[in-house]
Amino acid sequence: LKVLVTGAAGQIAYSLLYSIANGDVFGKDQSVTLVMLDIAPMAGVLEGVVMELQDCALPSLKIALQVTIYQQIYEVNLTLVISTTTVEEAFADIDYAILVGAMPRRQGMERKDLLKANAKIFKEQGQALDKFAKKTVKVLVVGNPANTNCLIALTAAPSIPKDNFTCLTRLDQNRAQSQIAARLGVSNDCVSNVIIWGNHSSTQYPDVAHASVKCGDTESSVVSCVKDDNWLNGEFITTVQKRGGAVIAARKLSSAMSAAKAICDHVRDWHFGTKGDKWTSMGIYSNGSNYGIKEGIIYSVPVRIAPGGAFTAVTGLSISDFARSKMDETAEELFGEKLMAMEFMS
Ligand code: NAI
Repeated sequence: LKVLVTGAAGQIAYSLLYSIANGDVFGKDQSVTLVMLDIAPMAGVLEGVVMELQDCALPSLKIALQVTIYQQIYEVNLTLVISTTTVEEAFADIDYAILVGAMPRRQGMERKDLLKANAKIFKEQGQALDKFAKKTVKVLVVGNPANTNCLIALTAAPSIPKDNFTCLTRLDQNRAQSQIAARLGVSNDCVSNVIIWGNHSSTQYPDVAHASVKCGDTESSVVSCVKDDNWLNGEFITTVQKRGGAVIAARKLSSAMSAAKAICDHVRDWHFGTKGDKWTSMGIYSNGSNYGIKEGIIYSVPVRIAPGGAFTAVTGLSISDFARSKMDETAEELFGEKLMAMEFMS
């Protein structure tokens, strides 16, 4: 497998690269070529990250700083690292593209300015996917605004199927899951089937109407265990929606360790599949057939994934009037972002 991580000199990648190199995502026995892309001014930092990966002395890791060495040992069952600042080299023949690198929001920057800067980056990377990557490449967009950046990349890569593009809402799902687990005093893995609908922004709708809690052999609904609709429809939702901001306020930096963990969860599930009747949330291309969400945006929905990566949106879930209004509100925001992004793209 050839796996590209962009923004490789940044803070999310700092945790993410270790996990991939250590076999925590694709398994310890899977040969992985890890390609790390950042912009040219970050070449020195990238070199430092490669040195640190080397210094982890992971049993499976070989660092190839020269392409010739890389070609010699390509067939060997190892994880191999190539760092690069050129798009052509980075996107060549990749199986996975984890697009973390993006223009950060600077103080005083309007959302529109952020979209404009990122439209340029993700258009260029979409074109690179179209031109250099395998047609089966699986793309995960993390850089914000993640849903709309994903839509831009998808639009710029018409030769790659739309279902190969996703954006990260797993961090929001993990946040929601852990809030419920803490409230009930159970471990995180007892809580399942939490849903994140819509945009990875403060309009997202974390929904536990179909979520369950497993204690021993008994599985019960989250709603019946929590027994507090006011909290579930109020503070719980806003805590999840605003968690990213709360981390920034406390740490003076945005979520990185938890974002890297969520990326690993997302990609592992996309690679190996979801288990049994469990589902997970990811931002996928809306084709207009799910829950009344109109076609043409990247919208987070619950999906079940088969081993190998084919996914289907979970259908037939009952949607309350409360949920409906929240789901429409976040869709509306996404159509607004799309309008701006398409203007910048053209
Ligand atoms: P960071 O600023 O530490 O790192 C970003 C890296 O991307 C930098 O090294 C920068 O040089 C690089 N970069 C910028 N433009 C690039 C380009 N065109 N090609 C390749 N690399 C490029 O940021 P951090 O904390 O790692 O976050 C990255 C992104 O992820 C941000 O946009 C952030 O808002 C987003 N994010 C998304 C989450 C989600 O759940 N979807 C959660 C947390 C963060």
